[in-house]
Amino acid sequence: MVPKPAPTPGDSSWFVRDRFGLFIHWGIYALPARHEWVKSREKLGDETYRKYFERFDPDLYSPAAWAAEAANAGMKYFVVTTKHHDGFCLWDSKLTDYKATRTPHGRDLLKPMVDAFRERGLRVGFYHSLLDWHHPEFPIDCHHPQRSDEAARASKRDVRKYAEYLHGQTRELLTQFGKIDILWFDFSYPNRGTEGLPGKGREDWQSEKLYELVRELQPQVMLNNRLDLDTGFDFLTPEQVQPQGRVELNGQPVVWEACQTFSGSWGYHRDESSWKSTDQLLRMLIDTVSKGGNLLLNVGPTGRGEFDERALERLRGIGAWMRRNGRSIYGCGESTFQPPVDCRYTQNGSRLYLHVFAWPFARQQLQLPGLKGKIAYAQLLHDASEVLVEEPRHHAHSSGMSLGGDPEAVVLKLPTQPPPVVIPTIELFLKEE
Ligand code: GLC
Repeated sequence: MVPKPAPTPGDSSWFVRDRFGLFIHWGIYALPARHEWVKSREKLGDETYRKYFERFDPDLYSPAAWAAEAANAGMKYFVVTTKHHDGFCLWDSKLTDYKATRTPHGRDLLKPMVDAFRERGLRVGFYHSLLDWHHPEFPIDCHHPQRSDEAARASKRDVRKYAEYLHGQTRELLTQFGKIDILWFDFSYPNRGTEGLPGKGREDWQSEKLYELVRELQPQVMLNNRLDLDTGFDFLTPEQVQPQGRVELNGQPVVWEACQTFSGSWGYHRDESSWKSTDQLLRMLIDTVSKGGNLLLNVGPTGRGEFDERALERLRGIGAWMRRNGRSIYGCGESTFQPPVDCRYTQNGSRLYLHVFAWPFARQQLQLPGLKGKIAYAQLLHDASEVLVEEPRHHAHSSGMSLGGDPEAVVLKLPTQPPPVVIPTIELFLKEE
């Protein structure tokens, strides 16, 4: 038996079934188009950064088109940046003027997005930045764009007033958009202080109080683990790393979701060339599910309000695979069986899915250890064509040479030519015990 995570305070039942979601990083940093941290990285002052606010007008924004792309890619939920670290808000918050409705665009961007994704049957998640590089009461710290500005460093700022704002906006988000399925706070860095500047954590955010507010307003919401609290959260969030195996906390398995980018930047980045291929992204999804996790794959829409070509090409490639192979992802998780080299298993009850990352060469036998006598039927998933299962042949050679092999394995008789799918997947129907 695969050990299961303990029940979480929020409702994780749908989350561990749906497995695949879309992350959206969108804000005025789409205009500089060189990373969502540009204000901090380049130490831009408010006056300099203001030009993006004054020119933000995503005239081609079509939330229905975004939702359609996500649904076609096989994604079941989405998580959008309501506010990122630069403090800019996508919705019409009553607590600030630093929001979409005050840009030339003049409209709330969040509400129509929530409606469009819901319409497509996707669940709704909000990312909300704990940091805020615009709020006047947010004390200058190690990540702040004004960290080298002596006057700003010396300015009196009251983090309690900022926390009040943070809690107030959280209340808005959890009361004005219906049922919210995921709340994704980002992030805490209590031990990251440098050059005489502190980090920030639970004291600054007043995380315990914030936590109570969240559970009071939306008890079922799936809450991530970045509030710097030791308990109470529902899932862990490894970022841009692929775990080596199941993710655990203090030796216990946990619900987890890897978040990954296409290219390394979360916000739209025009000049970045390190884009992963569709094939790599699919392997990432499969690998994640084979370790019992979810994948939240990020897109950074442009300042015109569109997904760029590189993202569309990949989302559509993923969708083509998911349409035929989705049942090896949804409802699936880790298997107790050990996959052969260059393969991954995902499992849903008595259905075991073998994802073949490198197709074996001619006459090579794909041996599946530990499955002797256990397989009732096998087929390629994308076209339901039968795959014959055999006992391994014993290579007793007169010279005494041994070719290895496991007597408890079975052998799949695969065609020499790889089937025409990015990642071929074989569905193994296990005999019911
Ligand atoms: C990091 C970054 C951020 C991004 C997030 C996504 O914490 O600060 O830019 O939004 O990761 O996980």
